[in-house]
Amino acid sequence: VEERLRATVRPETGEIPLFTYADPEVYKLELERIFGRVWLFVAHESELEEEGAFVVRQMGEQSVIVARGDDGEIRVFLNACRHRGMKLTCEDRGVTSYWRCPYHGFTFANHGNFMGTPFERAAYPPDGLDRERLRLIEARCDSYAGLIFATWTREGEGPSLPDFLGDMRWYLDIFAGRARMELLGEAQRWVVPSSWRLPSENFASDAYHTATAHAFLSRLGLVRSVDFGKDGYHVDAGGHGLGMGVHDDDPGSYFPDELEAEYRSRLDDDQLALLHRIKNFHGNVFPNLSFLIPNFIPVDGRLVTGMMLRVWQPMGPDRMQAWSWFLVEKDAPEWWKTLGRRMYVQTFSSGGMFDQDDTEVWEAQTAVAVAARSRSDEVMLDYTMGLDAEPLTDFPGPGTVYAGKFSEAAGRSYYRRWLDLLLEEGR
Ligand code: FES
Ligand code: FE
Repeated sequence: VEERLRATVRPETGEIPLFTYADPEVYKLELERIFGRVWLFVAHESELEEEGAFVVRQMGEQSVIVARGDDGEIRVFLNACRHRGMKLTCEDRGVTSYWRCPYHGFTFANHGNFMGTPFERAAYPPDGLDRERLRLIEARCDSYAGLIFATWTREGEGPSLPDFLGDMRWYLDIFAGRARMELLGEAQRWVVPSSWRLPSENFASDAYHTATAHAFLSRLGLVRSVDFGKDGYHVDAGGHGLGMGVHDDDPGSYFPDELEAEYRSRLDDDQLALLHRIKNFHGNVFPNLSFLIPNFIPVDGRLVTGMMLRVWQPMGPDRMQAWSWFLVEKDAPEWWKTLGRRMYVQTFSSGGMFDQDDTEVWEAQTAVAVAARSRSDEVMLDYTMGLDAEPLTDFPGPGTVYAGKFSEAAGRSYYRRWLDLLLEEGR
Protein backbone atom coordinates (compact mmCIF):
# COMPACT_ATOMS: atom_id res chain seq x y z
CA VAL A 1 0.00 0.00 0.00
CA GLU A 2 2.96 2.33 0.56
CA GLU A 3 3.88 1.96 -3.10
CA ARG A 4 0.34 2.76 -4.16
CA LEU A 5 0.29 5.84 -1.92
CA ARG A 6 3.65 7.02 -3.25
CA ALA A 7 2.43 6.63 -6.83
CA THR A 8 -1.01 8.20 -6.51
CA VAL A 9 -1.22 10.79 -3.72
CA ARG A 10 -0.11 14.13 -5.16
CA PRO A 11 -0.85 16.96 -2.76
CA GLU A 12 1.26 19.46 -4.73
CA THR A 13 -0.93 19.19 -7.80
CA GLY A 14 -4.13 18.73 -5.83
CA GLU A 15 -4.82 15.08 -6.66
CA ILE A 16 -5.90 12.66 -3.94
CA PRO A 17 -7.14 9.16 -4.80
CA LEU A 18 -10.56 8.13 -3.49
CA PHE A 19 -9.32 4.78 -2.21
CA THR A 20 -7.39 6.46 0.63
CA TYR A 21 -10.66 7.57 2.27
CA ALA A 22 -11.58 4.13 3.60
CA ASP A 23 -8.83 1.65 2.87
CA PRO A 24 -8.04 -0.91 5.60
CA GLU A 25 -4.31 -0.99 4.77
CA VAL A 26 -4.06 2.79 4.83
CA TYR A 27 -5.92 2.80 8.13
CA LYS A 28 -3.46 0.34 9.66
CA LEU A 29 -0.61 2.64 8.66
CA GLU A 30 -2.47 5.64 10.10
CA LEU A 31 -2.83 3.96 13.49
CA GLU A 32 0.84 3.04 13.58
CA ARG A 33 2.53 6.05 12.02
CA ILE A 34 0.15 8.89 12.82
CA PHE A 35 -1.80 7.97 15.96
CA GLY A 36 1.16 6.02 17.30
CA ARG A 37 3.51 8.98 16.95
CA VAL A 38 2.16 12.50 16.71
CA TRP A 39 0.85 14.72 19.50
CA LEU A 40 -2.85 14.02 20.09
CA PHE A 41 -5.34 16.10 22.06
CA VAL A 42 -6.50 14.20 25.14
CA ALA A 43 -8.11 16.64 27.57
CA HIS A 44 -8.57 20.23 28.65
CA GLU A 45 -6.89 21.53 31.80
CA SER A 46 -10.24 22.67 33.20
CA GLU A 47 -11.24 19.00 33.50
CA LEU A 48 -8.35 18.15 35.79
CA GLU A 49 -8.17 20.95 38.31
CA GLU A 50 -8.48 18.76 41.37
CA GLU A 51 -5.68 16.45 42.54
CA GLY A 52 -6.62 12.88 41.65
CA ALA A 53 -9.02 13.98 38.91
CA PHE A 54 -8.91 11.81 35.81
CA VAL A 55 -10.70 11.39 32.48
CA VAL A 56 -10.58 8.44 30.10
CA ARG A 57 -9.84 9.31 26.48
CA GLN A 58 -8.42 7.74 23.34
CA MET A 59 -5.18 7.99 21.44
CA GLY A 60 -6.07 6.36 18.15
CA GLU A 61 -7.98 3.26 19.19
CA GLN A 62 -6.19 2.96 22.52
CA SER A 63 -7.89 3.89 25.75
CA VAL A 64 -5.83 6.18 27.98
CA ILE A 65 -6.27 7.69 31.42
CA VAL A 66 -5.39 11.37 31.74
CA ALA A 67 -4.85 12.06 35.43
CA ARG A 68 -3.62 14.71 37.82
CA GLY A 69 -1.59 12.82 40.41
CA ASP A 70 -1.43 13.62 44.11
CA ASP A 71 1.83 15.40 43.31
CA GLY A 72 -0.05 17.84 41.03
CA GLU A 73 1.47 16.51 37.79
CA ILE A 74 -0.72 15.63 34.83
CA ARG A 75 0.14 12.29 33.23
CA VAL A 76 -1.29 10.06 30.54
CA PHE A 77 -1.38 6.28 31.03
CA LEU A 78 -2.37 3.41 28.82
CA ASN A 79 -5.64 2.18 30.32
CA ALA A 80 -4.31 -1.36 30.65
CA CYS A 81 -3.45 -3.38 33.72
CA ARG A 82 0.11 -4.73 33.75
CA HIS A 83 -1.15 -8.18 34.83
CA ARG A 84 -3.44 -9.33 31.98
CA GLY A 85 -4.21 -6.09 30.21
CA MET A 86 -7.69 -5.57 31.60
CA LYS A 87 -8.98 -2.00 31.39
CA LEU A 88 -7.93 -0.46 34.68
CA THR A 89 -10.94 1.76 34.78
CA CYS A 90 -14.20 1.58 32.87
CA GLU A 91 -15.35 4.98 34.11
CA ASP A 92 -15.35 8.10 31.93
CA ARG A 93 -14.05 10.32 34.69
CA GLY A 94 -13.55 10.43 38.41
CA VAL A 95 -11.37 11.51 41.30
CA THR A 96 -9.19 8.87 42.91
CA SER A 97 -5.80 8.30 44.44
CA TYR A 98 -5.50 4.83 42.87
CA TRP A 99 -7.04 2.43 40.37
CA ARG A 100 -7.71 -1.14 41.39
CA CYS A 101 -8.03 -3.52 38.49
CA PRO A 102 -11.48 -5.16 38.39
CA TYR A 103 -10.01 -8.53 37.32
CA HIS A 104 -7.51 -9.63 40.03
CA GLY A 105 -6.96 -6.44 41.97
CA PHE A 106 -3.55 -5.14 40.87
CA THR A 107 -3.52 -1.61 42.23
CA PHE A 108 -1.78 1.45 40.77
CA ALA A 109 -1.38 4.91 42.27
CA ASN A 110 -2.64 7.95 40.36
CA HIS A 111 0.98 8.76 39.53
CA GLY A 112 1.42 5.36 37.85
CA ASN A 113 3.33 3.26 40.38
CA PHE A 114 2.30 -0.30 41.13
CA MET A 115 1.21 -0.44 44.76
CA GLY A 116 0.28 -4.04 45.43
CA THR A 117 -2.21 -6.79 44.83
CA PRO A 118 -4.40 -9.04 47.02
CA PHE A 119 -2.56 -11.92 48.78
CA GLU A 120 0.69 -10.61 47.33
CA ARG A 121 2.91 -12.29 49.96
CA ALA A 122 1.23 -15.67 49.50
CA ALA A 123 0.98 -15.56 45.74
CA TYR A 124 4.38 -14.13 44.90
CA PRO A 125 7.90 -14.29 46.38
CA PRO A 126 8.08 -12.95 49.96
CA ASP A 127 9.41 -9.54 48.96
CA GLY A 128 6.50 -9.10 46.54
CA LEU A 129 6.36 -7.98 42.93
CA ASP A 130 8.82 -5.58 41.33
CA ARG A 131 7.16 -2.19 41.76
CA GLU A 132 9.29 -0.42 39.15
CA ARG A 133 8.78 -2.98 36.43
CA LEU A 134 5.00 -2.90 36.83
CA ARG A 135 4.56 0.86 36.53
CA LEU A 136 1.75 1.84 34.18
CA ILE A 137 2.76 2.51 30.57
CA GLU A 138 2.99 6.26 30.21
CA ALA A 139 2.70 8.57 27.21
CA ARG A 140 4.53 11.89 27.16
CA CYS A 141 2.26 14.86 27.70
CA ASP A 142 2.40 18.62 27.45
CA SER A 143 -0.14 21.39 27.10
CA TYR A 144 -0.71 24.52 25.08
CA ALA A 145 -3.40 27.14 25.69
CA GLY A 146 -5.12 24.82 28.15
CA LEU A 147 -5.22 21.96 25.66
CA ILE A 148 -3.44 18.81 26.85
CA PHE A 149 -1.74 16.68 24.21
CA ALA A 150 0.08 13.36 24.48
CA THR A 151 2.39 11.31 22.28
CA TRP A 152 3.84 7.80 22.36
CA THR A 153 7.22 9.00 21.11
CA ARG A 154 9.98 9.27 23.67
CA GLU A 155 11.77 12.44 24.75
CA GLY A 156 14.03 13.60 21.93
CA GLU A 157 12.20 11.49 19.38
CA GLY A 158 10.02 13.64 17.11
CA PRO A 159 9.13 17.31 17.65
CA SER A 160 8.25 18.96 20.96
CA LEU A 161 4.60 20.03 21.30
CA PRO A 162 5.35 23.70 20.50
CA ASP A 163 7.29 22.64 17.39
CA PHE A 164 4.55 20.24 16.40
CA LEU A 165 1.90 22.97 16.66
CA GLY A 166 4.17 25.43 14.85
CA ASP A 167 2.31 28.24 13.12
CA MET A 168 -0.98 27.03 14.57
CA ARG A 169 -0.03 28.34 18.02
CA TRP A 170 -0.74 31.96 17.13
CA TYR A 171 -4.28 31.02 16.10
CA LEU A 172 -4.83 28.65 19.03
CA ASP A 173 -3.96 31.59 21.29
CA ILE A 174 -6.97 33.39 19.86
CA PHE A 175 -9.30 30.40 19.96
CA ALA A 176 -8.31 28.61 23.16
CA GLY A 177 -5.87 30.92 24.94
CA ARG A 178 -7.56 34.32 24.80
CA ALA A 179 -8.90 33.79 28.32
CA ARG A 180 -9.05 31.16 31.01
CA MET A 181 -11.32 28.65 29.32
CA GLU A 182 -13.39 25.68 30.42
CA LEU A 183 -15.21 22.80 28.80
CA LEU A 184 -18.76 23.27 30.01
CA GLY A 185 -20.59 20.00 30.58
CA GLU A 186 -19.75 16.53 29.34
CA ALA A 187 -18.71 15.65 25.83
CA GLN A 188 -21.45 14.51 23.53
CA ARG A 189 -20.31 11.38 21.72
CA TRP A 190 -21.76 9.67 18.72
CA VAL A 191 -20.61 7.09 16.23
CA VAL A 192 -20.67 7.83 12.51
CA PRO A 193 -20.00 5.37 9.68
CA SER A 194 -17.38 7.72 8.26
CA SER A 195 -13.63 7.86 7.96
CA TRP A 196 -12.18 10.03 10.77
CA ARG A 197 -10.22 11.99 8.18
CA LEU A 198 -13.13 13.52 6.25
CA PRO A 199 -14.34 15.83 9.02
CA SER A 200 -10.76 16.65 9.98
CA GLU A 201 -9.87 17.95 6.54
CA ASN A 202 -13.26 19.63 6.29
CA PHE A 203 -12.54 21.77 9.35
CA ALA A 204 -9.00 22.48 8.21
CA SER A 205 -9.82 23.56 4.74
CA ASP A 206 -13.43 23.51 3.64
CA ALA A 207 -15.43 26.69 4.02
CA TYR A 208 -16.62 26.16 0.45
CA HIS A 209 -19.22 23.48 1.27
CA THR A 210 -21.14 25.85 3.51
CA ALA A 211 -22.90 27.59 0.64
CA THR A 212 -24.25 24.30 -0.74
CA ALA A 213 -24.42 21.66 1.99
CA HIS A 214 -25.80 24.13 4.54
CA ALA A 215 -27.77 26.26 2.09
CA PHE A 216 -31.21 25.54 3.46
CA LEU A 217 -30.27 26.90 6.88
CA SER A 218 -29.87 30.38 5.51
CA ARG A 219 -32.85 29.94 3.16
CA LEU A 220 -34.99 29.12 6.18
CA GLY A 221 -33.57 32.14 7.96
CA LEU A 222 -32.05 30.00 10.72
CA VAL A 223 -28.64 31.54 10.20
CA ARG A 224 -27.49 34.68 8.49
CA SER A 225 -26.50 34.12 4.90
CA VAL A 226 -23.08 32.66 4.34
CA ASP A 227 -20.64 35.20 3.08
CA PHE A 228 -17.72 34.51 0.84
CA GLY A 229 -15.25 36.44 -1.20
CA LYS A 230 -12.70 38.84 0.11
CA ASP A 231 -13.95 39.07 3.68
CA GLY A 232 -11.96 36.20 5.03
CA TYR A 233 -8.71 34.29 5.15
CA HIS A 234 -7.55 30.77 4.54
CA VAL A 235 -4.45 29.57 6.38
CA ASP A 236 -2.14 26.68 5.60
CA ALA A 237 -0.29 26.06 8.86
CA GLY A 238 1.82 23.11 7.75
CA GLY A 239 -0.70 20.26 7.96
CA HIS A 240 -2.84 22.19 10.40
CA GLY A 241 -5.30 24.48 8.72
CA LEU A 242 -7.91 27.11 9.38
CA GLY A 243 -10.17 29.68 7.84
CA MET A 244 -12.05 32.67 9.09
CA GLY A 245 -14.66 35.15 8.07
CA VAL A 246 -13.90 38.70 9.17
CA HIS A 247 -15.29 42.19 9.03
CA ASP A 248 -13.36 44.56 6.81
CA ASP A 249 -12.85 46.98 9.63
CA ASP A 250 -12.79 46.63 13.39
CA PRO A 251 -16.46 46.85 14.43
CA GLY A 252 -15.62 46.45 18.12
CA SER A 253 -15.76 43.05 19.67
CA TYR A 254 -18.78 40.76 19.48
CA PHE A 255 -17.29 39.09 22.53
CA PRO A 256 -18.45 40.30 25.96
CA ASP A 257 -17.01 43.66 27.05
CA GLU A 258 -16.45 42.19 30.51
CA LEU A 259 -13.73 39.96 29.08
CA GLU A 260 -11.91 42.58 27.04
CA ALA A 261 -9.26 43.22 29.73
CA GLU A 262 -8.48 39.52 29.95
CA TYR A 263 -8.21 39.21 26.17
CA ARG A 264 -5.91 42.21 26.14
CA SER A 265 -3.66 40.69 28.78
CA ARG A 266 -3.23 37.43 26.87
CA LEU A 267 -3.17 38.43 23.21
CA ASP A 268 -0.82 40.70 21.31
CA ASP A 269 -2.21 43.69 19.41
CA ASP A 270 -2.50 41.83 16.11
CA GLN A 271 -4.28 38.88 17.70
CA LEU A 272 -6.65 41.20 19.55
CA ALA A 273 -7.42 43.17 16.39
CA LEU A 274 -8.23 39.92 14.59
CA LEU A 275 -10.44 38.73 17.45
CA HIS A 276 -12.44 41.95 17.10
CA ARG A 277 -12.97 41.33 13.39
CA ILE A 278 -13.99 37.67 13.58
CA LYS A 279 -17.35 36.61 12.17
CA ASN A 280 -16.47 32.90 12.24
CA PHE A 281 -13.38 30.80 12.75
CA HIS A 282 -12.81 27.14 11.89
CA GLY A 283 -9.74 24.94 11.97
CA ASN A 284 -8.12 21.60 12.54
CA VAL A 285 -4.99 20.69 14.44
CA PHE A 286 -3.43 17.75 12.64
CA PRO A 287 -4.55 15.03 12.71
CA ASN A 288 -8.04 15.07 14.32
CA LEU A 289 -8.73 18.00 16.67
CA SER A 290 -11.18 20.48 15.19
CA PHE A 291 -12.39 23.77 16.57
CA LEU A 292 -14.97 26.31 15.58
CA ILE A 293 -16.46 29.66 16.34
CA PRO A 294 -19.60 29.53 14.19
CA ASN A 295 -21.23 32.70 12.91
CA PHE A 296 -22.54 35.08 15.52
CA ILE A 297 -26.31 34.78 15.56
CA PRO A 298 -28.74 37.18 17.22
CA VAL A 299 -30.49 35.63 20.24
CA ASP A 300 -32.60 37.64 22.66
CA GLY A 301 -31.19 40.84 21.21
CA ARG A 302 -27.54 39.78 21.61
CA LEU A 303 -25.08 38.41 19.09
CA VAL A 304 -23.76 35.09 20.34
CA THR A 305 -21.80 32.14 19.08
CA GLY A 306 -21.29 28.57 20.35
CA MET A 307 -17.62 27.65 20.46
CA MET A 308 -16.90 24.04 19.76
CA LEU A 309 -14.01 21.68 20.34
CA ARG A 310 -14.25 18.37 18.55
CA VAL A 311 -12.21 15.19 18.25
CA TRP A 312 -12.75 12.62 15.51
CA GLN A 313 -11.71 9.31 17.04
CA PRO A 314 -10.90 6.55 14.58
CA MET A 315 -12.77 3.26 15.08
CA GLY A 316 -11.83 1.60 11.81
CA PRO A 317 -11.27 2.62 8.20
CA ASP A 318 -14.93 3.57 7.80
CA ARG A 319 -16.10 4.36 11.33
CA MET A 320 -15.38 7.03 13.87
CA GLN A 321 -16.66 8.48 17.10
CA ALA A 322 -17.21 12.21 17.32
CA TRP A 323 -16.48 13.82 20.71
CA SER A 324 -17.91 17.30 21.01
CA TRP A 325 -17.48 19.93 23.71
CA PHE A 326 -18.64 23.47 24.34
CA LEU A 327 -15.62 25.60 25.21
CA VAL A 328 -16.16 28.94 26.88
CA GLU A 329 -14.42 31.64 28.89
CA LYS A 330 -14.47 30.60 32.52
CA ASP A 331 -15.08 34.11 33.86
CA ALA A 332 -17.65 35.03 31.21
CA PRO A 333 -20.95 36.60 32.25
CA GLU A 334 -23.74 34.05 32.67
CA TRP A 335 -25.71 35.26 29.62
CA TRP A 336 -22.73 34.55 27.37
CA LYS A 337 -22.32 31.03 28.72
CA THR A 338 -26.03 30.23 28.62
CA LEU A 339 -26.81 31.64 25.20
CA GLY A 340 -23.51 30.37 23.83
CA ARG A 341 -24.27 26.87 24.94
CA ARG A 342 -27.75 27.08 23.48
CA MET A 343 -26.23 28.25 20.20
CA TYR A 344 -23.66 25.43 20.28
CA VAL A 345 -26.35 22.79 20.83
CA GLN A 346 -28.46 24.19 18.00
CA THR A 347 -25.66 24.46 15.47
CA PHE A 348 -22.76 22.09 16.11
CA SER A 349 -23.54 19.17 18.41
CA SER A 350 -25.06 15.70 18.07
CA GLY A 351 -28.40 17.34 17.25
CA GLY A 352 -26.93 20.45 15.66
CA MET A 353 -28.39 21.79 12.42
CA PHE A 354 -25.01 21.87 10.73
CA ASP A 355 -23.97 18.45 11.94
CA GLN A 356 -27.07 16.92 10.35
CA ASP A 357 -25.88 18.09 6.93
CA ASP A 358 -22.20 17.32 7.38
CA THR A 359 -22.68 13.86 8.84
CA GLU A 360 -24.78 12.78 5.90
CA VAL A 361 -22.07 13.94 3.52
CA TRP A 362 -19.20 12.21 5.37
CA GLU A 363 -21.19 8.99 5.60
CA ALA A 364 -21.97 9.03 1.89
CA GLN A 365 -18.37 9.84 0.90
CA THR A 366 -17.20 6.92 3.00
CA ALA A 367 -19.77 4.58 1.46
CA VAL A 368 -18.63 5.63 -2.00
CA ALA A 369 -14.99 4.98 -1.04
CA VAL A 370 -15.82 1.58 0.43
CA ALA A 371 -17.67 0.61 -2.76
CA ALA A 372 -14.72 1.82 -4.83
CA ARG A 373 -12.38 -0.67 -3.14
CA SER A 374 -13.26 -3.20 -5.82
CA ARG A 375 -12.23 -0.89 -8.68
CA SER A 376 -8.90 -1.64 -10.23
CA ASP A 377 -8.29 1.90 -11.57
CA GLU A 378 -7.74 4.98 -9.45
CA VAL A 379 -10.51 7.50 -8.99
CA MET A 380 -8.66 10.77 -8.52
CA LEU A 381 -10.31 13.58 -6.57
CA ASP A 382 -9.79 17.27 -7.17
CA TYR A 383 -8.07 19.38 -4.52
CA THR A 384 -6.91 22.18 -6.80
CA MET A 385 -8.88 25.18 -5.57
CA GLY A 386 -6.56 28.15 -5.20
CA LEU A 387 -3.56 26.24 -6.49
CA ASP A 388 -2.13 29.29 -8.27
CA ALA A 389 -3.13 31.86 -5.66
CA GLU A 390 -0.41 34.09 -4.26
CA PRO A 391 -0.19 34.13 -0.47
CA LEU A 392 -0.55 37.43 1.34
CA THR A 393 2.60 39.14 2.50
CA ASP A 394 1.01 41.63 4.89
CA PHE A 395 -1.12 39.38 7.10
CA PRO A 396 0.06 39.72 10.71
CA GLY A 397 -0.26 36.02 11.60
CA PRO A 398 2.06 33.14 10.68
CA GLY A 399 1.51 30.33 8.17
CA THR A 400 0.81 30.67 4.46
CA VAL A 401 -2.21 32.92 4.36
CA TYR A 402 -4.56 33.55 1.45
CA ALA A 403 -7.19 36.23 1.04
CA GLY A 404 -10.73 34.93 0.80
CA LYS A 405 -12.03 31.47 1.41
CA PHE A 406 -11.77 29.99 -2.06
CA SER A 407 -8.79 27.80 -1.37
CA GLU A 408 -7.93 24.20 -0.62
CA ALA A 409 -4.33 24.98 0.25
CA ALA A 410 -4.78 23.73 3.81
CA GLY A 411 -6.29 20.50 2.47
CA ARG A 412 -3.27 19.96 0.23
CA SER A 413 -0.93 20.67 3.12
CA TYR A 414 -2.93 18.29 5.36
CA TYR A 415 -2.35 15.52 2.84
CA ARG A 416 1.34 16.44 2.46
CA ARG A 417 1.89 15.92 6.17
CA TRP A 418 -0.29 12.83 6.23
CA LEU A 419 1.62 11.24 3.36
CA ASP A 420 5.05 12.11 4.80
CA LEU A 421 4.11 10.42 8.05
CA LEU A 422 2.66 7.34 6.38
CA LEU A 423 5.76 6.96 4.22
CA GLU A 424 7.98 7.84 7.20
CA GLU A 425 9.44 10.82 5.41
CA GLY A 426 10.16 14.03 7.29
CA ARG A 427 9.76 12.38 10.68
FE1 FES B 1 -5.54 -6.67 36.18
FE2 FES B 1 -5.25 -9.27 36.55
S1 FES B 1 -5.70 -8.19 34.74
S2 FES B 1 -5.18 -7.72 38.00
FE1 FE C 1 -20.28 21.86 7.54
